[in-house]
This record gives sequence, C-alpha cells and structure tokens, in this order.
Amino acid sequence: MGYTLQQITLQLNIMMDISELLRQRRSSRDFLAEPLAPGLLDKILEDAMQSPSWSNTQPYRLAVASGPTRDALAQELKSNYLEISKLQRAPKWRQLLAFLTNKSMPSNDYKQALVYPAELQKRRLKTAQGLYGLLGIKRHDTQKRDQQMARNFEFFGAPTAIFFFAHKGLGVYSVLDVGILLQSIMLAAEARGVSSCAQGALALWRKPLDQYFDIPKEYKLLCGLSLGYASEHQVNSYSPGRISHQDLMLAERS
Ligand SMILES: Cc1cc2nc3c(=O)[nH]c(=O)nc-3n(C[C@H](O)[C@H](O)[C@H](O)COP(=O)(O)O)c2cc1C
Repeated sequence: MGYTLQQITLQLNIMMDISELLRQRRSSRDFLAEPLAPGLLDKILEDAMQSPSWSNTQPYRLAVASGPTRDALAQELKSNYLEISKLQRAPKWRQLLAFLTNKSMPSNDYKQALVYPAELQKRRLKTAQGLYGLLGIKRHDTQKRDQQMARNFEFFGAPTAIFFFAHKGLGVYSVLDVGILLQSIMLAAEARGVSSCAQGALALWRKPLDQYFDIPKEYKLLCGLSLGYASEHQVNSYSPGRISHQDLMLAERS
C-alpha cells in the first residue's frame, strides 16, 4: 500500500497543527477494507477522552463494532434500510401493516428531523446536490439514491464503526458532550491518518445493537461513526464548503 503525505508526515513525527487538521478533515464515504493498525483505535480514543464535558461527567458510552460484529450489523442494518425504502413506495395500507408487524421498522431513541427549517434546508440541499452531482446521480433516480444511501448502513466499507450513546439524565447536555467527543475522535483519527464519517443514519436502529452490546437502558443511541483508511474513490474528494463565520454573527441591537 502506498503512503499518503499525511501518513508520511506522521511517521516523521511532524504533527499537524489544529488549524491544518480542522481544514483537512472531510467525511469519507468509501473506505478500504483494511483493518485499523493494531492499537491505533486505542490511541485515538485515549486522545479523544481529553474532551471536556458537563461537570466532567463524561455522560457517554461507545459501542465499537469491528470484525464479525461489524459484518453482522452491516448486513442487518442494510437489509432494514432496503426494506423500509421499498415500503416508502408501497400503498398506505401496506406501510401501516408493516409498521405494526415488521421488525425492520426503525427503533431510534432520538427523533430525526423529517422536515427541515427553510434556512437549513437550503444548505442541506446544496450539500446533497453537490455530493450526488459528483457521483452522477440524478435528482429523480431513486434507485441510485437508495443505493448510495444504503452504503451508510454498511459503513461505506469501513472496517470499524463506533456507535455513540448519551445518558438521558443530562438531557441536551449529554448530547452536546457526545458532539464534542465525536469531533475529538474525528480529529484524533485524522491526525493519525485515519478517515471517518459521522452518521446520523446509524442511529435509526437501536435494537440490532442491543443484540451485540450490553447497553444500559439510560443510554440513548445518538449517532454513529465509520472509521478506516479512505480509498481513492472520487466521493472522497467532496468538499462541501461552509458559510462564512461572519454569517453566524448576530447583529448587535443599537
Ligand atoms: C452529527 C452528524 C451526522 C451526520 N450524518 C451523516 C449521515 O448519516 N450520512 C452521511 O453520509 N454523512 C453524514 N454526516 C456528514 C455530513 O454530511 C458532513 O459532515 C457535512 O456534509 C460536511 O462535510 P465534511 O464532513 O466533509 O466537511 C453527518 C455529520 C454529522 C456531524
């Protein structure tokens, strides 16, 4: 395997500064099957555990899936997704029946936004259009869109997936803390040559995770993260851009 510039600089022990890291990290949506080097995930997680949290409560738990557990989960989550995406186009009575009887129905702990506020929908659309445009997927090609969406559930081929759980007892503040931890893991991974993709999609089915991990009831599934070595696939060149920080600033009242 050839080394990327990032991996070479790491081997030379030249650490990237935080500004470079923040600018370099992008979501990867196609990974090599190669497992993470032994001990690497522990190093990444050890670094990320320096994250701050509400009163240092560290109100989160992680389920790390690799090897056979990862494969079994990928199979089950993807098959659930394909099943419900088929149902979306079925008559209403079939949808209702499936809702009552079907084990593929989502079992999410947190509700996900189905309708986006207009201001956010604009940015969401632009990002999705850029991604699908790069992949040559047309707006109305539901089959190809489904196929691309389904890749979420096989972790885009990544050898490792992490599922994040927030303690419900701290309300939104444990959710906030999970966000901080998530970013720390992504940056600690990037600094060590490991790419990632945060995935809200991986929070749609909690039940399959309960089969493989001992998850206390008070911990709620918030999101997932695929981790691995990025492939050369063009999807990984996608860089959706940002609004300017000035656009975040609220005008002072005069
Ligand atoms: C909490 C969270 C959930 C996300 N969920 C998904 C997801 O389900 N599928 C996906 O492909 N990308 C997902 N993303 C990645 C975002 O689409 C991505 O971060 C955003 O478009 C900016 O691109 P960048 O990460 O390459 O800078 C998620 C990111 C975050 C932070």
